[in-house]
Amino acid sequence: MIRTQVAIIGAGPSGLLLSQLLHRNGIDSVVLERRSRDYVEGRIRAGLLERGTVELLEAAGVGERLNREGLVHDGVELAFSGRIHRVDLKALCGHAMTVYGQTEITKDLGDARVAAGGTVLYEVDDVTVNGIDSARPRIAFSSLGIRDEVECDFVVGCDGFHGVTRRSVPAATITTHERVYPFAWLGVLADVPPVADELIYANHSRGFALCSMRSRTRSRYYLQCTPADRVEDWSDERFWDELRSRLPEAHAIRMQTGPSIEKSIAPLRSFVAEPMRFGRLFLVGDAAHIVPPTGAKGLNLAAADVRVLYQGLIEFYRGRGDRLLDEYSSRALARVWKATRFSWWFTTLMHRFSDEPFAHKLQLAELEYLAESPAASRAFAENYVGLDFT
Ligand code: APR
Ligand code: PHB
Repeated sequence: MIRTQVAIIGAGPSGLLLSQLLHRNGIDSVVLERRSRDYVEGRIRAGLLERGTVELLEAAGVGERLNREGLVHDGVELAFSGRIHRVDLKALCGHAMTVYGQTEITKDLGDARVAAGGTVLYEVDDVTVNGIDSARPRIAFSSLGIRDEVECDFVVGCDGFHGVTRRSVPAATITTHERVYPFAWLGVLADVPPVADELIYANHSRGFALCSMRSRTRSRYYLQCTPADRVEDWSDERFWDELRSRLPEAHAIRMQTGPSIEKSIAPLRSFVAEPMRFGRLFLVGDAAHIVPPTGAKGLNLAAADVRVLYQGLIEFYRGRGDRLLDEYSSRALARVWKATRFSWWFTTLMHRFSDEPFAHKLQLAELEYLAESPAASRAFAENYVGLDFT
């Protein structure tokens, strides 16, 4: 039997960040993760951070490499009808974005937990959550075939969309909302210099394309594809040809290509579970909500949940009551729904949904309006860099 204050299920960015922030504030936690450390740190995910996420990573003590290697982007490009509109994020709302891979964040947090002597148990099976309505919940799990238990004050579900914690609560107490989009993203990672200094989101009649990066020598590119597409259908050559065809000429002719080092297809979905607290169980990050990747809000929302929860736990353990913990669900959900709206809107604006010209004409009209109207550009910029914390 292991005793701790906070039991965290899942060692993705949410779980590790929460554990590390709690540790720096004198609160003990144990993290239980189904996969191996290598697996968790090898997953390729998005890599675009709002300033609030950067601040939280700094507060967790993992800002050093991020600030050294992260690329600061003051603007972003929207490409449509063969033209490019640059949204000057810094000029419009005073903030920039930081490009730093989620893979690197997970490594930095994993190293920080080890350096601090934290308990992260990898490769555990059959996690079951009990007693969330009591003052001492218990988590049963198996490690190397041996059954064990963690007894704690609070349980935090950081176990992603397919995790066990959301499914542990009685169905009658939880409401879920879901929208599945009729397309997917094909992502390619390649060691070639990025086509431009900033990100390019392209609306094209053949479908959406995104040019992102991980460093000055490593590019991350995406193409809208169908959910039925398989990675084997997409040779590197087909990918580069298709990407070129969806970019404005100025970028297409400059783009450097090379062998892919990773290629994957991800479906797009919006999903929200409410509330995000059930007795002594709190849901955080992908365990409670999923956004489509357009705008890269997933990790940033997870970090925003962690921000509210760790402050509530500090208040509780410092004997200042549970007001913040009681507000966790409503405060987190207020931000979740705004990011759900923005990522749904940005997805809808940029992707090809059907052959219907009317829908494409409306997208182009909205993009033109965005390019002409400082008010519309500012509304975009405010959401893209991340809304202020209230
Ligand atoms: N028991 C233990 N661990 C589990 C279980 C389980 N039953 N089910 C899932 N997990 C682990 C997964 O293996 C994974 O490592 O929980 C972790 C969840 O991590 P993520 O899916 O990365 O979710 P989260 O930490 O909330 O990260 C936020 O932001 O950019 C987005 O989707 C992207 O992962 C990203 C997310
Ligand atoms: C990425 O770099 O992987 C990325 C960037 C921006 C997005 C989505 C993904 O909107």
